[in-house]
Amino acid sequence: MEADDPDNPAGVPLEIIVKVARDENGKVLSIFMSLHDLTTGRKLIEEKRILEDQLRQAQKMESIGRLAGGIAHDFNNILTTILGYSELILMEMADNDPFREEIEIIRSAGEKAAGLTRQLLAFSRKQVMDKKPVSINKIIQEISKLLAKMIGEDIIITTVMEAEPGVVDADQGQIEQVLMNLIVNARDAMPCGGRLIIETQNVTFDQKYTRAHPEVKAGEYVMMSVTDFGEGISGEAIEHIFDPFFTTKERGKGTGLGLSTVYGIIKQHNGHVYAYSEIGRGTTFKIYFPASSKLIVESAADKGESLAAGTETVLIVDDEPSIRRLIMDTLEPFGYKCLDASCGADALRLIQTTSEKIDLLLTDVIMPGMNGKELADKVSKDNPAIKIIFISGYTENTIAHHGILDPEVNYIQKPLTPTILIRKLRQVLDSYR
Ligand SMILES: Nc1ncnc2c1ncn2[C@@H]1O[C@H](COP(=O)(O)OP(=O)(O)OP(=O)(O)O)[C@@H](O)[C@H]1O
Ligand SMILES: [Mg+2]
Repeated sequence: MEADDPDNPAGVPLEIIVKVARDENGKVLSIFMSLHDLTTGRKLIEEKRILEDQLRQAQKMESIGRLAGGIAHDFNNILTTILGYSELILMEMADNDPFREEIEIIRSAGEKAAGLTRQLLAFSRKQVMDKKPVSINKIIQEISKLLAKMIGEDIIITTVMEAEPGVVDADQGQIEQVLMNLIVNARDAMPCGGRLIIETQNVTFDQKYTRAHPEVKAGEYVMMSVTDFGEGISGEAIEHIFDPFFTTKERGKGTGLGLSTVYGIIKQHNGHVYAYSEIGRGTTFKIYFPASSKLIVESAADKGESLAAGTETVLIVDDEPSIRRLIMDTLEPFGYKCLDASCGADALRLIQTTSEKIDLLLTDVIMPGMNGKELADKVSKDNPAIKIIFISGYTENTIAHHGILDPEVNYIQKPLTPTILIRKLRQVLDSYR
């Protein structure tokens, strides 16, 4: 009996067993009939299948992430050298130097590669984050003008905002990147223009919801969605859209890293992202950020300062000699005195034996032997006056759990450029502890 049966108008799936008992002459003695409602059983099987799919998907993303993160890490070190030296050469070069243009080309190619590595790191969730309590509405308002310019006039962006959205603990730059990637995709799906809606909403997930979505913890969330009315995504493609390098665009048009970056960033924010789409109708991406109980603090923006010189002594610790040299080549012209060590043990020895007064320790995080965090702890214990900056493009979970990601910790992200390095150095040296 199925849906249209007049005897079963609700279309409940039933198992019907009929047993007829007869005597030896074939005369019916009794009829036994049993009806089993199969709804619950089928539902359980379907739920189990969905949960298994979700688990498989999560495991796949995890292993691709590890691979991507490993490559990006090594790549970052190489790029740091390329970018750093191009910038140093350009700083010293006369404006009319005949090689200026070539070096600028090297630098801009390096920057493109750095952009790709950043996306891979974002996907593998190994990017260092600068999380602060923020309002998602404010981020959207700030960036939507820029986005509107970027996607052109034939796409109209409408925003439907929650009046008082919950506070979210987030890295503003990364949230901007998420929005940008989603909006660029939406534009690509509407080549002749159209409407795009950005929405925010406070949402509560209860136990009932989390039972069906075991990856979600119950609680308060802030939802941010981007909806377009474009070509839509096919059922087959939607299974793969978050995979790195998955693209349906023609060769050379898309890298297929846009959505995998979105995925990585959202996971790093302990959030969730879902895509809903219908071919020919459009697509909605919904993102849920856990709401935070922290308060938003307006920071006195310390932007716009120029590159200031210094006279302090800096101890540079990195196992990569080319990076140590780059940092020294950058800092010395600005008046800093530099010492260097290739590992934590050497650094500690140097601090004990040198007659120099070291003002700042600039250390890589991931190093063979003692890691940067352990070194910093030892140094601060015996020499609390020495300030510390970590250089990192990559955080192993173990280190993340030991406080490197603490918002109070100073770090510079690789690939580092001389400008960022010098700014940060001055900022930290001039700060009170
Ligand atoms: N809003 C959308 N509408 C239709 N298809 C989409 C949408 N967003 C994503 N897709 C599909 O998902 C694929 C992957 O998207 P992703 O942003 O990761 O890479 P890409 O856009 O192809 O490349 P890139 O972001 O480097 O330009 C796209 O190629 C497209 O098939
Ligand atoms: Mg894209």
